[in-house]
Amino acid sequence: MLFKQQAWLRQKLLVLGSLAVGSLLYLVARVGSLDRLQPICPIEGRFGARGQAEFPLRALQFKRGLLHEFRKGNASKEQVRLHDLVQQLPKAIIIGVRKGGTRALLEMLNLHPAVVKASQEIHFFDNDENYAKGIEWYRKKMPFSYPQQITIEKSPAYFITEEVPERIYKMNSSIKLLIIVREPTTRAISDYTQVLEGKERKNKTYYKFEKLAIDPNTCEVNTKYKAVRTSIYTKHLERWLKYFPIEQFHIVDGDRLIMEPLPELQLVEKFLNLPPRISQYNLYFNATRGFYCLRFNIIFNKCLAGSKGRIHPEVDPSVITKLRKFFHPFNQKFYQITGRTLNWP
Ligand code: A3P
Repeated sequence: MLFKQQAWLRQKLLVLGSLAVGSLLYLVARVGSLDRLQPICPIEGRFGARGQAEFPLRALQFKRGLLHEFRKGNASKEQVRLHDLVQQLPKAIIIGVRKGGTRALLEMLNLHPAVVKASQEIHFFDNDENYAKGIEWYRKKMPFSYPQQITIEKSPAYFITEEVPERIYKMNSSIKLLIIVREPTTRAISDYTQVLEGKERKNKTYYKFEKLAIDPNTCEVNTKYKAVRTSIYTKHLERWLKYFPIEQFHIVDGDRLIMEPLPELQLVEKFLNLPPRISQYNLYFNATRGFYCLRFNIIFNKCLAGSKGRIHPEVDPSVITKLRKFFHPFNQKFYQITGRTLNWP
């Protein structure tokens, strides 16, 4: 009997102990995240140069919590509306480039309290069917945010789709446009790897990269191959420049975002006129993944999905050399137009 009572008491103490430790960890996490969002000194006061109102970061933190509850179904649309949350059209769009690191860039920017990401790729401007549904349809696809925040969406197909620049211009001629690029040959191989994985999943056979990238008749680079065409960045950018001045674009170095994300993110914060809020604390290198992952506070962190950071197949070095030689003049032009030299081979 005594033994039974002792066991029961031990069990109770264990449960109470776990609860206490859990609560303590939760409190520490909350304090940690609030600390991170507290301005060390009065922040620049305005997010935008064009006179947007000052916005306390604590309110943004509260909003994040409320939205989280809303998504989980614990807060009503009414509560969300009561707190002035609205669905806004994006003030900045990551227009590409596919396999440049667009998801990593979006997720990392979303660490900023004044940025709210559209989680899904909306494909509004590149898909005729979606575009025909109208701008209100697009706006309703956006997440809730405060008017002083900026919504960002990413759809990498925008960069290469003919009709998109004009359509975006019609929505907002002063929108900010982000392009994340990687060394063109690596990007093309990454693009190929993604398609290959899809084919393998469907049990389909597929050509080797070398066969697609090099025309077997001429032995020249096959410019009809989409993965090659997408990597001729300057050709696509030139189409965009018919609608937007170069000052409205910001080039992100996707190779550097992999190795050293913070300085790249700080450049984007500056371009978007945001106070610098993303810090080294928010980014930690995960050796197992081989990539930087995101830290929100001491408890909540996340890495990108496994579909980001695939192992590329080995490619014949002579094909790589040929491709690099092919891209070289286009790259030079790209540096010249954008004012950003990326030292690609
Ligand atoms: P690979 O799969 O070729 O390595 P996108 O999101 O535009 O499809 O780009 C995918 C690429 O993002 C990946 O290409 C990967 O290299 C890169 N990337 C950049 N930062 C990353 C990160 N922190 N975690 C995972 N992948 C990242």
